[in-house]
Amino acid sequence: MNLEQIKQSAFKEIEESRDLKSLEGLRIKYLGRKSQLVEILHSLKDVPLNQRQKIGPVANVLKKELDELIKNRKAELREDEGSKKIDLSRPAQKISRGHFHPLTIAEEKICRIFLTMNFSVVEGPEIENEFYNFDALNIPPNHPARDLWNTLWLKTRTDADKTQIDADKTRTKADSVRENLGRNQRQSALLLRTHTSPMQIRYMETHQPPFQIIVPGRVFRYEATDASHEINFYQVEGLMVGSRVSLANFKFIIETFLKKFFGPNIKFRFRPSYFPFVEPGLEVDVWFKDKWLEVMGAGMVARKVFDAVRYNPDQVQGFAFGLGLDRLVKIKYNLPDIRLLYSGDLRFIKQF
Ligand code: DAH
Repeated sequence: MNLEQIKQSAFKEIEESRDLKSLEGLRIKYLGRKSQLVEILHSLKDVPLNQRQKIGPVANVLKKELDELIKNRKAELREDEGSKKIDLSRPAQKISRGHFHPLTIAEEKICRIFLTMNFSVVEGPEIENEFYNFDALNIPPNHPARDLWNTLWLKTRTDADKTQIDADKTRTKADSVRENLGRNQRQSALLLRTHTSPMQIRYMETHQPPFQIIVPGRVFRYEATDASHEINFYQVEGLMVGSRVSLANFKFIIETFLKKFFGPNIKFRFRPSYFPFVEPGLEVDVWFKDKWLEVMGAGMVARKVFDAVRYNPDQVQGFAFGLGLDRLVKIKYNLPDIRLLYSGDLRFIKQF
């Protein structure tokens, strides 16, 4: 066969090959060590120069063409064989969609319920200062009530400066740092808010009654964890202030809320309690699985708190409450341990 014949038959056979195995046979036949084409290329050294110059380039080009052709055909056949393996009758793999976390679901539900009762939803900072988190809520420094909230204090610039001063022996620089320190220390110390109540103060400072708000948010406590305590958790604060807001209004709002959240048959009770920022103070329990479970603290806003925001306590009154979101979720879904909510364990999360 001459080169032209080789080319024609090779092209034809390669195109017509039906599987990878026969294609490999063709590769050996046309490009293998004993193939005619390779033999021709080998024998070139023995042919006269003028012929060599004619045949050589043509043979080389053909070799390249065949290489290319086989490679392409191989890819095609591979694809064919791959698609033959797909069994279209098999059930499709289930696509798992993302969804909201149970705490988020509950928070949204709570917000929706209060929105229907004309409450506004506002949010406050997670990093608070001592004034809003404690003092303005009638919890002065060294007051034993501060022990109710095991606080995570933040290391502020002031602490860092202090270290700097100790290390710094040059008087002039130390003096100037000390001056700045004095200024900073007069500011209230920073902490991670231990409850959402500070937002009561921030809101009242910038708004005039009547109003009703809820404040959902994350809070932090420096505590050992157990089945119902976490180092961070969520609360929803409530505050309603006006000229004639009473505990009866509170009872109606909370009853409406609990029935919408848990269902119309939920049993609940008010129990006297103490919080520095309310007077009288109370706690709300719900009846669940044969026992009373505490779900929120509440009460009528204390006069001292109105003083702190320059409201006239003789002209306004209001109620406040702080409900534990994790507690509500624990009850609603009957969870054994609230720490599951923060575990990131998909076997748990996927059940909602
Ligand atoms: N802030 C309280 C806590 O974290 C809960 C609370 C109690 C909030 C009474 C209130 C309230 O608004 O009136 O334990």
